[in-house]
Amino acid sequence: MQRILIDTDPGVDDALAILLALLSPELQIEALTTVCGNVPVTQGTENLLRILEVLDLAEFPLIAQGEAQPLVKPLVTAAHVHGDDGLGNISQLRNADGRPVYPPADTHISPTSGVDLILEMVTRYPDELTLVALGPLTNVAKAIRKDPVKMQRLQKIVVMGGVFEDYGNVTTTAEFNIFVDPHAAQEVFQSNVPIDIAPLDATHQVVLTGERLHAELDGRSDSISRFLKDATHACMEFYRQHVGFWGFHIHDALPIGMLTHPEYFESVAADVQVETEGVLTNGVTVSDLRPERRSPHPNAQVCIKVAADAFLDHFFQRLQ
Ligand code: BDR
Ligand code: CA
Repeated sequence: MQRILIDTDPGVDDALAILLALLSPELQIEALTTVCGNVPVTQGTENLLRILEVLDLAEFPLIAQGEAQPLVKPLVTAAHVHGDDGLGNISQLRNADGRPVYPPADTHISPTSGVDLILEMVTRYPDELTLVALGPLTNVAKAIRKDPVKMQRLQKIVVMGGVFEDYGNVTTTAEFNIFVDPHAAQEVFQSNVPIDIAPLDATHQVVLTGERLHAELDGRSDSISRFLKDATHACMEFYRQHVGFWGFHIHDALPIGMLTHPEYFESVAADVQVETEGVLTNGVTVSDLRPERRSPHPNAQVCIKVAADAFLDHFFQRLQ
């Protein structure tokens, strides 16, 4: 069993990743921390509680709210992709009796900050804990600034972020999580902690179409199915209008799959740097992935290939 801390900015695909992680018997989710990104961090924390309520959990992981602003840049959010509340506006849905369809889980939020909870968890599980980062890397960078020696006791960090040979999704060149806080990403990538990266080059290979989603949910009325249907609607409409297909990419689910089913993923060792100054290239992850040009001093394993059909089948099996 792998001990996991998930740092997240929920987010529709974050929600799918969190559900997948909690439904993966290979993983023990010890804690979740929120960070600003897709939505402001207070909204992200509320969303996390809504997501946790979808599952009938006997015991909740530890939860702490993290940073509200990137290290240097002003916050850029993605409500236009994920819906105003970040979860396809499910917070507005009401039952016939007027009660919210998706109430936040009634559980305790730690009074410590996300950064301190990360450090506490590394102290509790030295050399055992894997940190899965599904949003901008602000909390992770701040934890490294606060105690760089302790953070070396992480087993590794698995990051959804960056793009190398594909186009970006927030600008032509940059991926959202790295673009929102490029300074944090650069500090994390230079930290010497082992890092696995799922960039857009990999996540774009896994296309969840609306047809597939609805076929999978057809005839089901359980809480996970209802949530999947309700939370993904706005995002799929955004993709229909702006990306060119009805459906979406389940970016943040990939790091979870990389931990439980590494055989579906192929990675290369790379030296990854982040452009923090550029105007047209702000937040770009830079690395030469050509075999003959790869650096002899890699700081990350970058996923370049996914067995997409096998991973999607697995994803739906777990969310049954
Ligand atoms: C990443 O950006 C966010 O909008 C998603 O949640 C994902 O983490 C994809 O670029
Ligand atoms: Ca995310």
